[in-house]
Amino acid sequence: MVKIRFLGHSAFFLESGEHRLLIDPFIEGNPLCPFTLDEVRTWQPSAILISHAHGDHWGNALEFGQAGVPVIGTFEIGEYARKHGATQAVGLNIGGTYRADWGSVSLTPAWHSSSFPDGTYGGMPTGLLLEFGGKRLYFAGDTALFSDMKLIGERGLDLAFLPIGDAFTMGPEEAGRCLDLLRPRVAVPMHYGTFPPLTGDPEVFRAEGEKRGVEVRVLAPGAETELA
Ligand code: NI
Ligand code: MN
Repeated sequence: MVKIRFLGHSAFFLESGEHRLLIDPFIEGNPLCPFTLDEVRTWQPSAILISHAHGDHWGNALEFGQAGVPVIGTFEIGEYARKHGATQAVGLNIGGTYRADWGSVSLTPAWHSSSFPDGTYGGMPTGLLLEFGGKRLYFAGDTALFSDMKLIGERGLDLAFLPIGDAFTMGPEEAGRCLDLLRPRVAVPMHYGTFPPLTGDPEVFRAEGEKRGVEVRVLAPGAETELA
């Protein structure tokens, strides 16, 4: 069983047994995040997973990294984290997998860009394929639809997190088409409503899921859902 808490935008906290993951920790400056950084710190994440270096995903990663929590992302993200004081940075590249006592994360392609808020190159943008709590979860990061999602879906997905906001990623109709390729049991929309350009409507995505027999769970910021 995996418990999933939405922190708004594309930030999620995943919990299974004694293991806890924080994905794209955009906490401070995230207008939708109902938690303070201090509150999130008390949840004691086992690792921080980063899809790409943009500020709305990198977020507060460094604060955790400097406190000794592993920060996992591309090689460039790992190097950046290390140079800025993260003591357990892990740099991978697309296709690579990091294994830990909590499970594993593999970096997948994503169609987007990736630079840090200070302009430093972040490597390729990525998605994250997770083995966690006995489930397989795909976090698409920021991306457009791409046909290789079919190959990711062939692994058999319990859940897919998909961006639907439009402007910087695909919108909800295109995210619906991803469901044809990914065929997850459950889909969770993200990256919408945070800022004015992110106009994608989660109810449109829900309808896209219904058309395809995929259960869409729309989470309010701060809400939790369980994946049994
Ligand atoms: Ni981005
Ligand atoms: Mn983004």
